[in-house]
Amino acid sequence: MFLRCPRSKLSVWAALCVLVLCWLYIYPVYRLPSDKEIVNEVLRQGQVWKKNQTGIHLFRNLLKVCCDPRKMFAVTKENSPLGKVLWYDGELYHSRTVNNDTYPLFVQETPLQVPLKRCAVVGNGGVLKRSGCGRDIDRADFILRCNLPPLSKEYTEDVGKRTHLVTANPSIIEKRFQNLLWSRKAFVDSMKAYGSSYVYMPAFSMKPGTEPSLRAYHALADSGSNLTVLFANPDFLRSVGRFWKGRGVHAKRLSTGLFLASLALGLCEDVDLYGFWPFSVDLEERPISHHYYDNVLPFSGFHAMPEEFLQLWHLHKTGTLRMHIGRCPEAAG
Ligand SMILES: *[C@@H]1O[C@H](CO)[C@@H](O)[C@H](O)[C@H]1NC(C)=O
Ligand SMILES: *[C@@H]1O[C@H](CO)[C@@H](O)[C@H](O)[C@H]1NC(C)=O
Ligand SMILES: *[C@@H]1O[C@H](CO)[C@@H](O)[C@H](O)[C@H]1NC(C)=O
Repeated sequence: MFLRCPRSKLSVWAALCVLVLCWLYIYPVYRLPSDKEIVNEVLRQGQVWKKNQTGIHLFRNLLKVCCDPRKMFAVTKENSPLGKVLWYDGELYHSRTVNNDTYPLFVQETPLQVPLKRCAVVGNGGVLKRSGCGRDIDRADFILRCNLPPLSKEYTEDVGKRTHLVTANPSIIEKRFQNLLWSRKAFVDSMKAYGSSYVYMPAFSMKPGTEPSLRAYHALADSGSNLTVLFANPDFLRSVGRFWKGRGVHAKRLSTGLFLASLALGLCEDVDLYGFWPFSVDLEERPISHHYYDNVLPFSGFHAMPEEFLQLWHLHKTGTLRMHIGRCPEAAG
């Protein structure tokens, strides 16, 4: 018969359609410029940069509307009272309810005095090696760093030594400090490099990360450390992820660097970025290491670094933030 259409066949086709649509949603058909094209574009722009107050205001407002960084970036007693359900942003259908064990660990409210003046966000790119940017970075009013980077003497000239906020992924606590199940001394000692800064931990992003993060909190609190642990608010991480997805960043997860840059754009008058350069050669096409301190490559496919770079580069070109690639001018002499 003409119109006979077996139901089972139809549903197979429907399922295939849905799959293809999902695939296109996750991996849309678009072409990213090649690394070489990006390098050429950056060289074309050169050192030309002009601050754009309108652009800065506009972007800060966009971030305020989508994500409210000032109130939301950390879990506080104010935004997460007893009984509040925190939904993990890196997992589906997992949550943790704020109870008498966790509530006392939260700060009362966002402790930062905003707006902050000049903020320096330090990515850990190998391009920082021999950049001589340390002094420039250390002169900022508020310095943000990613993933507990080494700040020993040999790096000071290139990356500076002051820190006001440093992120710490639970995976590092696991890898470097045995999840703090054994000695805590090595952890507490190594954290002294960050002075009396805020340690920003995504404790409620992935379920296995919560316990190590809480242990890190207690290890620091028990040792009378000057550091203040702030837990990243999963609602904030999710809203920032959505914000960038809406602007065309197609990654499973944003990099810590883009999160911090977004945070700084929301909290600071002026934002300078250092070490945000996800390519394997520098502007003179010399090969560079992945990080300024090692050459360990991340899992591919998890982050979308060149894509993120282009977003930030666009903000640089419009004068909304300033990106420093290569040597800092003052270091030349
Ligand atoms: C300043 O920023 C606004 C908003 O991003 C943009 O439309 C404008 O073109 C920028 N001005 C300059 C001179 O780049
Ligand atoms: C939590 O602590 C408060 C004050 O210490 C107490 O009044 C309350 O009963 C506790 N709640 C639970 C569920 O233990
Ligand atoms: C905390 O800071 C004070 C003042 O800067 C310093 O004297 C003290 O040694 C620091 N404590 C620790 C545990 O680092």
